[in-house]
Amino acid sequence: MKQQTFAFTRSENLKEKPQASTLQFGKVFTDHMFTMDYTAEAGWHDPQIVPYAPLELSPAAMCFHYGQTVFEGLKAYVTKEGKVLLFRPDKNFERMNRSNDRLCIPRLDEELALEALRQLISVEKEWIPTAEGTSLYIRPFIISTEPFLGVAASISYKFIIILSPVGAYYKEGLNPVSIAVENDYVRAVKGGTGDAKTGGNYAASLKAQEVAAESGYSQVLWLDGVEKKYVEEVGSMNVFFKIDGEIVTPQLNGSILQGVTRDSVLHLLKHWGYPVTERRVTIAEVVQAQKTGKLEEIFGTGTAAVISPVGKLFYEGETYEINNGVTGEVAKRVYDTIVGIQKGEADDTFGWTV
Ligand code: COI
Repeated sequence: MKQQTFAFTRSENLKEKPQASTLQFGKVFTDHMFTMDYTAEAGWHDPQIVPYAPLELSPAAMCFHYGQTVFEGLKAYVTKEGKVLLFRPDKNFERMNRSNDRLCIPRLDEELALEALRQLISVEKEWIPTAEGTSLYIRPFIISTEPFLGVAASISYKFIIILSPVGAYYKEGLNPVSIAVENDYVRAVKGGTGDAKTGGNYAASLKAQEVAAESGYSQVLWLDGVEKKYVEEVGSMNVFFKIDGEIVTPQLNGSILQGVTRDSVLHLLKHWGYPVTERRVTIAEVVQAQKTGKLEEIFGTGTAAVISPVGKLFYEGETYEINNGVTGEVAKRVYDTIVGIQKGEADDTFGWTV
């Protein structure tokens, strides 16, 4: 791609930056955003960096009615030397295009999207928090904008990137969370949209999450949508188990999201010499392993929380304490290494940072 400088309208009302100690996840937004429009005639056009502001959309815009939207999530860190690092951003735009294909949204030029992100971040560099456990969360997304109530693919779209300085995603941080195995609701089925990053998957997950929260669990462990036998994901994250020395994660099957953190964890574990397998994992196997003392760790992997260890598992009326309710060695090691690489403090063996 030819180097391109995007049109830039500077905000006249720069906001006060929040204190790092007050940061929660996704509540504060920076001064500017990147936007680009799509029409059938002009394709993707009018890329620009503009002040962060509400959008004006027709109430009939299709995104409000039929959920034709996709999004991504990644993070920026600033190193001690003041260099800004992104972690495998190409993977996010690659995945956004896979989600676009599934949702009948026109593909983006991945290099242009990455360049847009680079320029937006360089405008907003001062917003990247540096305190322990904080980062700048990046949310690229596409919405369908055609004002039309028929069920069809929209003929117009908006691609936007917004930025949010964040603290920990879960209040527990790297402390173990309690989860309940979900036996009624399902997140996704093969042939559905489970492996696309689209709003509907997250809307569909809320009810189970609410029911689990009422019983004191912070997340649910999702089973497959047909037999309710195989483990798929935990909350909005991929899931890993350490059983009798082997680390296993459910193999991608069309209903599991292809997590960038999942992929990074797999690379690291293999590099460190752990026996790692991507295969089907039944909930019965997990419970049996716990009962025989072979279940050493469970942890979730995702961009927002990076690693979230599981300390308690509720299934069919029984609560099991995993690894005595403490964060396991593997979870801690992958967390420290990934965050270390993201912050430019650990050896970037795989050349993941940009
Ligand atoms: C992630 O951890 O990457 C997620 O998908 C959570 C996000 C929806 C906030």
